[in-house]
Amino acid sequence: MNKLYGLLGHPVGHSMSPLMHNDAFTHLGMKGYYHAFDVPEVELKEAVDAFRLLNISGFNVTIPHKVAIMNLLDEIDEEAVMIGAVNTVVNMDGRYIGYNTDGRGYLTSLLKTIDRPLHECNVLVIGAGGAARGVATVLANEGVALLTIANRTITKAIEIKDNYQSYRHANITVVSMSEAEDNLGLYDIVINTTSIGMSPNVNDVPISIQHAKPSVVLSDLIYNPILTKWLIQGEAKGLKTHNGVGMFVEQGALAFQLWTGKYPDTERMTELVRKQLG
Ligand code: ATR
Repeated sequence: MNKLYGLLGHPVGHSMSPLMHNDAFTHLGMKGYYHAFDVPEVELKEAVDAFRLLNISGFNVTIPHKVAIMNLLDEIDEEAVMIGAVNTVVNMDGRYIGYNTDGRGYLTSLLKTIDRPLHECNVLVIGAGGAARGVATVLANEGVALLTIANRTITKAIEIKDNYQSYRHANITVVSMSEAEDNLGLYDIVINTTSIGMSPNVNDVPISIQHAKPSVVLSDLIYNPILTKWLIQGEAKGLKTHNGVGMFVEQGALAFQLWTGKYPDTERMTELVRKQLG
């Protein structure tokens, strides 16, 4: 029998997840179908109740439900609790278990780009929203030489630091955006987790790279456009860049693996997503 999987979000019209997961089911010869459900915030509980009734095998959760979903599940994985958000739910014998594959997906993709051990790297995370929490959590859990968070609203960065230091004794600092800019030469990896540069505001950049060191990796979570102006500036300077397509694909692949036990062909998924993005 076909197993049903889904996406809960609002809006979901432009999501590339159905394309990616349905292709993986077909390619692996598995009987599965993934459908995007457009569910506004006020109907989230009813939607989850309906999923339980229909015994939906697993689902992704996206904006605006990643935090609110947590109260509607039976159990939540430790790293998802640390991140404070769930993007993947697995039906384990009728119990819904929440995970977060965004952070791990990001890490998997980043590790394909960097050529030195993560624990030797000084990392700057720009932003302190949900995406920053996902990335900062896995980096803190993996262990980096130094993890610095910079954000326009510095109090939000301090909240993240205080939260992680209570879990793990990671070496985390917080700086203002201008301090980060002046001291950019300290960092081996600089990650933009904000929406600065995302379509349609494609001319904005999150931070000046004037003081970046030549061996730095610039990493942008944005995948629309695939190459943001910030990454184009980096490439023009001969810097290594890492765009957001890899994170999107890997978070999906890890979700697929949690649901089915099978890790899909991520090169194939990347091709599909790149084609779709044009
Ligand atoms: P997400 O879940 O995608 O991370 P979010 O939780 O709304 O979204 O967080 C957005 C992040 O981008 C925040 O760090 C935000 O900075 P503030 O905390 O100061 O609001 C940052 N951000 C978004 N637009 C920005 C802009 N124009 N300039 C500077 N920072 C911006």
